[in-house]
Amino acid sequence: MMTVEAENVAVDPIYQVPKRLLDKNSAPTPYVDSFEKYQELWKQSVEDPDTFFSKLSKELLSWSKPFTTVRSGGFEQGDVAWFLEGELNASYNCVDRHALANPNKIAIIHEGDEPNSVRNITYGELLQEVSRLANVLKSLGVRKGDNIAIYMPMIPEAVVALLACARIGAVHSVVFAGFSSDSLRDRIVDASAKVVLTADEGKRGGKAIATKRIVDQALLTAPTVESVLVFRRTGADVPWTNGRDLWWHDEMAKARPYCAPEPMNAEDPLFLLYTSGSTGTPKGVMHTTGGYLLGAGATVKYIFDYHPDDIFACMADIGWITGHTYIVYGPLTLGATTLLFESTPTYPTPSRFWEVVQEHKVTQFYTAPTAIRALRRLGDKWLDGYDLSTLRVIGSVGEPINPEAWEWYNEMVGKKNCAVVDTYWQTETGSIIVTPLPGAIATKPGSATFPFFGIKPVILDPTSGKELEGNDVTGVLAVAQPWPSMARTVYNNHHRYLDTYLRPYRGYYFTGDGASRDKDGYIWIRGRVDDVINVSGHRLSTAEIESALISHHSVAEAAVIGGHDDLTGQCIHAFTTLKPNIEDSEGLEKELALQVRKVIGPFATPKAIYCVNDLPKTRSGKIMRRILRKIVNNEADQLGDTSTLADPSVVDMLIEKVQSAQ
Ligand code: PRX
Repeated sequence: MMTVEAENVAVDPIYQVPKRLLDKNSAPTPYVDSFEKYQELWKQSVEDPDTFFSKLSKELLSWSKPFTTVRSGGFEQGDVAWFLEGELNASYNCVDRHALANPNKIAIIHEGDEPNSVRNITYGELLQEVSRLANVLKSLGVRKGDNIAIYMPMIPEAVVALLACARIGAVHSVVFAGFSSDSLRDRIVDASAKVVLTADEGKRGGKAIATKRIVDQALLTAPTVESVLVFRRTGADVPWTNGRDLWWHDEMAKARPYCAPEPMNAEDPLFLLYTSGSTGTPKGVMHTTGGYLLGAGATVKYIFDYHPDDIFACMADIGWITGHTYIVYGPLTLGATTLLFESTPTYPTPSRFWEVVQEHKVTQFYTAPTAIRALRRLGDKWLDGYDLSTLRVIGSVGEPINPEAWEWYNEMVGKKNCAVVDTYWQTETGSIIVTPLPGAIATKPGSATFPFFGIKPVILDPTSGKELEGNDVTGVLAVAQPWPSMARTVYNNHHRYLDTYLRPYRGYYFTGDGASRDKDGYIWIRGRVDDVINVSGHRLSTAEIESALISHHSVAEAAVIGGHDDLTGQCIHAFTTLKPNIEDSEGLEKELALQVRKVIGPFATPKAIYCVNDLPKTRSGKIMRRILRKIVNNEADQLGDTSTLADPSVVDMLIEKVQSAQ
C-alpha cells in the first residue's frame, strides 16, 4: 500500500493559489496572502499559543467577563481548559451582537426541499425566535446544564433549537435524523435528556420522513423525557401523547420574544455529539463554549476566507459535526449569512447544487467527496449554463478525496479560479485542523496540506509510538499539544476519553487516522487505522454493526469490514455465521440488512451480507478481520501466512463465497 501511495505523491501536480484570489479587483484580499505569512502565524500559534489565542479570542468573540488564564491542563490527565475565568454566551455571540448592529442582515437562507421554496431569516428575527424558544424551554423546566435531544429535519427551527439551548445553558445533543429509533433512544438515554425537540415529518428529496413516529418509538424506552416539542413541518397527522407532546407554534405564541442570555463559563459544556468509535456504544463527545466557538469562528474566517458580504453554504446535515460548526456556530459567530439546504444534490435534478449557488450567489461552498464523485459520474452537462462565478472557496470534508474527484471539483465547479480546500478534522477536534488556506497554500489534489493555527500535527510510528521526524514518512496521525476547540471529555465517561484519544500514544492526541508527510511536507490523510468505517463520510463502527446483526435471532457470529467503493469511499461487507438449523437464503440476507437499518439507520445498510459456515479465527478464537478485508478488496493473493488460523480451509470457502456474490 505504501509504495503505491508514495508513487502517487511523486507525480501529483501542485496548484498555486489562483491569481484571481490575490487580485484586489476580483476578490477581497485574503487574510493570509502568502505562504511565508502562513508559516509565521502558524509558528506563533504553536510556540506561543497563549498570546496568539488570547488575541484571536478577543478579536472574534464577545466576552461578558474577560479571562485571565488562557490555557491550563494537558494530555496527561485530559484536563485541558481554555480561557478559564472568562464568561460568554454562544447564542449572544451568534445572534445578539449581529442583530443589534445589523438587524436586517440575513442570517439564514433556507433552501427548502422543493426548488423555489426559500425562507430568509434576518438576525433581528433570529434573535426573537431564539429568545422565544429559550423561554419555552425554561417554561418546560429546562435549566442550565440539562441535556436536550434534537431530532429535526434541515429547517431553520433546527438552528433556532441549538441556539435556544445555548442561550439558557442547556446542552444540546443533536441526533442525525437518519438514525433509527433504537439509535435515537440510546443517545437520549445516555444523556438522560429531559426534552426532545422534533418535527411532525421531515422532507428530503421529495420524500416524507416519519420523524415524530420515530421519536415516539424511541421514547417507549426512554423514561427521562418529560416533554416533546413538535414543529409542524408538513402538517401530516401524527400520533400524540397528551401531557408530553406540545406543538411548537402553540408554545412559541405564548412566549416573550426576548430572553436574557445566560452567562456561561468558557469551559461550560455547549453540546454533546454522539459519534462512533472502534468499540462499544457511541460516545457523547463533549464540546465547551469558549474554545469551540473560537475554533468555529477562526476556521470560517481563515480557511474559508470569509468576508462580510459573503454567502456561506455548507451542504452538510446539522446532525453531524460539520453542520454544527459550519452551518451554525462558525458562520453565525462571524455574523455571516449561512445557507441551510434541506434537499439532496440530485433532487429534482443533479443541477440542484448549482442552482443554489447561482440563485443565492454563494461565495463559499462546502460539501463531501461522496457528493462530488456522484455528481461527476452523472456527467458535466448538469453544470451547463449555471453561473458559479461568485464562488471563491470550495471545500471538501469527511473522507479522503481522490485526485480525480478533486480535479473535477476544481475544474467544473471552481473553474480553476477558486481555492479548493480539502479540510481534515473530526467530531472530536471541533473544527478543521489540517487544511490549505485559500490565499497562502499551494494545493496538491488529495492532500489536506498543512496544519491550521494552533495545531501541531505529528506522524507516529504505530508500533513504537515514536515521532517520525522529517519528510517522506508514513504512520499514524496525532497532535502534540492542546488546541482551543478540542473535545474535553466523553459524557459521563472520562476514562473512555483518555483511553480512546490520550492513552494510545502518551503525550499526544491520537486521531485514529493513518497519514503521510510527503517530501514537501504536505500531509496526506490515509483513512482510519481502527475499526471505524467511513461510508459517504458517515462514520460507523464495525462493532456497532456487528452487534446489530447479532441481535437478529438467526445470527451466531458476525464480522464486519470496510470494502473499497468508487462512490461511497468505503462500503460495509458483513460476514455472519448462522445458528444451528437456520438455512441461508436470499430472504434472510435481506432481513439481516433490514435489521441493521432498524438498529442503526438506513445509511448503515451493508452493501453485501455473506452467510458463511465459519469465520477466519486464530486458535484462541479471535476473528481475523484482516483476512476478510483482503478477500473483499480483491487482494486474496496477499493474504500472507494463514497457517495460524484454527481452520485454514475456511479461506478458500470465503473466497468462493465472495467471488460468487460479486
Ligand atoms: O477518517 C477521517 C475522516 O473522517 C473522520 C472523522 O469523522 P467525523 O468525526 O464524522 O467527522 C467528519 C467531518 C469532520 C476522520 O477521522 N475525514 C474527515 N475529513 C477528512 C477525512 N479523511 C480524509 N480527508 C479529509 N479531509
